[in-house]
Amino acid sequence: MTFPTVRHRRLRGSAALRSLVKETRLAVQDLIYPIFVTHGTGVKEEIPSMPGVYHFSLDLLRQEIDEVVQLGIPGILLFGVPETKDACGSSAYDENGIVQQATRLIKSWYPGLLIIADTCLCQFTDTGHCGVVKHHPVTGHAEIDNDESLELLARTAVSQAKAGADIIAPSNMMDGYVHAIREALDENGLQHTPIMAYSVKYASSFYGPFRDAAHSTPQFGDRKTYQMDPANIREALREAESDVVEGADFLMVKPALAYLDVLRTLRENFDLPLVAYNVSAEYSMTKAAALNGWINEQAIVMETLTGMKRAGADIILTYHAKDAARWLKEQG
Ligand code: PBG
Repeated sequence: MTFPTVRHRRLRGSAALRSLVKETRLAVQDLIYPIFVTHGTGVKEEIPSMPGVYHFSLDLLRQEIDEVVQLGIPGILLFGVPETKDACGSSAYDENGIVQQATRLIKSWYPGLLIIADTCLCQFTDTGHCGVVKHHPVTGHAEIDNDESLELLARTAVSQAKAGADIIAPSNMMDGYVHAIREALDENGLQHTPIMAYSVKYASSFYGPFRDAAHSTPQFGDRKTYQMDPANIREALREAESDVVEGADFLMVKPALAYLDVLRTLRENFDLPLVAYNVSAEYSMTKAAALNGWINEQAIVMETLTGMKRAGADIILTYHAKDAARWLKEQG
């Protein structure tokens, strides 16, 4: 009888040994929690397809922010749900827009909590597109005008940073957006505001619940002329490369779960901090199964988030952040 000379099970024999050889550790410091803010008063409205996630008006926001801070979550990603929409998304760059107001308020409560502003026009345009829509002079087709959108996105970023946002996170997928935003921030004395570029953002069905939540479903067509084809990964390298050249400070892959190979590839090719966005439908699917009693929610969420870190993410944007922070605390 021959015996195995290599015994992998030796290092799995006890909890203490397993902990000693653990390669990937999830920490609360890695997590960012997305929050939806809206106008009006007395609003704390649960998003039907995202149980446990709410729209907050500013008067009811304090408790949520207190909770995030007490849990030790280092930052939040702010999404605005505005009162009015128009062709150029002007409520996105209004200095009294909902994101700008929320930013000033939260900063007055907790100057040390990182505020990341999502910089996009789709919640603010009446077309629901991430840029302005123009009709082509020759064909008459409706198109998203890249360069005109850049100006508005740059104005949005500047107004968010002026309101106190610590990081600008442009999610619009226009070409040249990092350059346009960097230049505008610098011209306004905001050279030190970092850009977290949604570099590799796929045209994904996993954003469905978010679009219900943010009222940002495109009114015609889809986002495939600016967001990436889920089948492509070499293109992801080209997208990330141009963001690096244009001055991005973080790179992001979005969604995360079906794109772990993309996270790994970016990790191997770039040295900037890498962010995974665990998007809305990834959250909704897990929640739905958990609410049905079909899965162990805690175990599944922790395994999922650990998988994203193992794939190469340094930072995870996730609607599970508060739960995960609580579980990490309990685990000690
Ligand atoms: C705005 C934006 C979207 C998400 C983040 N920023 C929606 C989209 O591109 O359609 C999706 C986030 C999520 O699904 O959790 N452009």
